[in-house]
Amino acid sequence: MTAHILDGKALAAALRADLAQRAAKLPYRAGLAVVLVGEEAASAVYVRNKARAADAIGVTAWTIRLPAGTTEAALLAEIARLNGDPDVDGILVQLPLPPQIRPEAVIGAIDPTKDVDGFHPLNVGRLHSGAPGLVPCTPLGVMKLLAHAGTALRGARAVVLGRSAIVGKPVAELLLRADATVTLAHSRTRDLAAECRRAEVIIAAVGRAELVRGDWVANDAVVIDVGINRRADGSLVGDVAFDECVDHAGAITPVPGGVGPMTIACLLENTLAAAAARRDQKSIQRPLRSQSP
Ligand code: GUN
Repeated sequence: MTAHILDGKALAAALRADLAQRAAKLPYRAGLAVVLVGEEAASAVYVRNKARAADAIGVTAWTIRLPAGTTEAALLAEIARLNGDPDVDGILVQLPLPPQIRPEAVIGAIDPTKDVDGFHPLNVGRLHSGAPGLVPCTPLGVMKLLAHAGTALRGARAVVLGRSAIVGKPVAELLLRADATVTLAHSRTRDLAAECRRAEVIIAAVGRAELVRGDWVANDAVVIDVGINRRADGSLVGDVAFDECVDHAGAITPVPGGVGPMTIACLLENTLAAAAARRDQKSIQRPLRSQSP
């Protein structure tokens, strides 16, 4: 049996079309500031893709490029400026940051209402206490892919591979909220293969190329691959050995074209949510966008 391939590219395109309509209904143009410190090639690509995707749905994107040698104080001053700018609804600081800058200092300085990555401790606390707040984009994208696949999560055994603050921990929380029985496994887990074999849902987010093998996947399990690893020949592979797992899984995401496009679409969704939440405050501060006749 061959798995259903979950087409994240198509699902993200549908979500973006819906978001473009929502953006157009706002009485002002939503704005997203993307901050890139240094010139790391992969980060530069991600930042460009995020800004382009925003533009394409009618959200103004500003890309703020700072040199690799930027001090923490200078970056904090930039964050303070963006926090105070009423045109900016969302702020995203691309990670990783250069070693002289503490990421927790920067993330903690972002206005939590503009924290479209959902990384600020206030939003993390809200997520884990079940209160409404901004939720990290990749975990949101994973949940939308699961919903699209029609995965029954209530009571299901779900294993999350990887305990990062960006993906593993928040996705485990969202699965728990959906009434799954969640195992959060990581590099010190004794028998990863056995944990996976018991699972009806596998979320792989460890950053190790093709770690999950075909014989780790139970028949009809749903496999979501968050990994993006570059092979020596330049090609991209996920954390899942796709060619092996596709014969066992019920549904599986490809890399590229699975989770990646969903992450960006969810960033746009968070930006519009942040913009809508600030609507009342803004319509007082600024004139309404002119309407066509
Ligand atoms: N670097 C890798 N993933 C992410 C992400 O989701 N947000 C930000 N800001 N940086 C990242």
